[in-house]
Amino acid sequence: MERVVADFQGRAYPILIQPNVLSDPFLPEMEEMLKERRWVLITDDHVSTALASLVETLKGYTYLKIEIQPGEKSKNFRQVEEIMEMMAEAGINRYDGIIALGGGVVGDLAGFCASIYMRGISWIQIPTTLLSQVDSSVGGKTGVNLEAGKNLVGSFYQPQAVWIDPFVLETLPNKEYWGGCAEVIKYAIIQGSEMSEWIRENWQDVMHKKPDVMTQLIKRCIACKNTIVMADEREKGLRKVLNFGHTAGHAREKLSNYTISHGEAVRWGMLYELELACRLHWILPEKCSEYKELVHLIPVEDENENFSGEVFMKAMASDKKNRDNRISFVLPKEPDLMEEILLSPKEIQRLMT
Ligand SMILES: NC(=O)c1ccc[n+]([C@@H]2O[C@H](COP(=O)([O-])OP(=O)(O)OC[C@H]3O[C@@H](n4cnc5c(N)ncnc54)[C@H](O)[C@@H]3O)[C@@H](O)[C@H]2O)c1
Repeated sequence: MERVVADFQGRAYPILIQPNVLSDPFLPEMEEMLKERRWVLITDDHVSTALASLVETLKGYTYLKIEIQPGEKSKNFRQVEEIMEMMAEAGINRYDGIIALGGGVVGDLAGFCASIYMRGISWIQIPTTLLSQVDSSVGGKTGVNLEAGKNLVGSFYQPQAVWIDPFVLETLPNKEYWGGCAEVIKYAIIQGSEMSEWIRENWQDVMHKKPDVMTQLIKRCIACKNTIVMADEREKGLRKVLNFGHTAGHAREKLSNYTISHGEAVRWGMLYELELACRLHWILPEKCSEYKELVHLIPVEDENENFSGEVFMKAMASDKKNRDNRISFVLPKEPDLMEEILLSPKEIQRLMT
């Protein structure tokens, strides 16, 4: 079993990664944690059906089960209120906890509820998409969207544990799996040549979800994210590198009215931002092509962009990372660095046309 310890100024918790770690019976340390308190299981309809036997096993520890509609549209305040009303009605108190079973949407939403219900209760993350296993379940960012933009309301709130079983990815639709691959490639570009090399060598096994390779892949991504977020939990500096591909990606996602997945949007955003880095002369054209090749390992077709440059700039302008009327990007810069740059919409348009 792979174990990564997340430690935020003395508040440490384990991230366990192992094929079958969620099979009955649970490991003694998991069993012990589950028996500590009453749990509210928050999941979505797809996960509940796809992972019915896991839900059945967790039933033995579940006091209340809440199922939300799958997808980004559920990540909002109305849903938060509904969940907390149900918890209050069931008599959930500050000694109880939440288990978030699902992808990044369930994780962000359930974690946010845990952070504010009775001023904060315990929670466990069980991520079930590739994106949530390699990225969103680590680092304690929780939150919901507003009409004005994604993740504009939220909190930093670390879970009590994260349990990751690569086998649950078997039921994940390809579109979602490939979307998660975008975050994997993001880590390869952030970490530099050793990880990029590993990705190229193991890509076929990743496409076939080979359990031992997936365990290594997830561990590599998580170890990278964990090191970054432990050094900068509140995103004052270093943590910003994780936003590579996300400024353009979030705008693309919003303009599609969330019909394309977060991962697909990040894939698109990385291609856009690599081009921007190249045009700024931060990376050489050869490096840009090498990174783009990595992104193109993800087997998805580009969807048509049916928006103008101006509409796109406007969408990027609502990103919460922006300052001084300038749009924030974190881009690769030779040699093997990531750096933030603030650009006005006019500067971006001049560079990109
Ligand atoms: N908190 C963070 O640090 C962070 C980081 C990155 C992304 N995010 C957030 O994560 C969200 C995207 O997460 P996502 O890509 O996991 O999407 P998601 O949670 O919407 O899940 C995608 C789809 O897959 C289904 N699904 C999940 N697990 C399944 C399984 N094992 N089998 C079958 N179906 C399954 C879900 O029901 C859903 O329909 C976005 O809201 C994004 O903002 C958060």
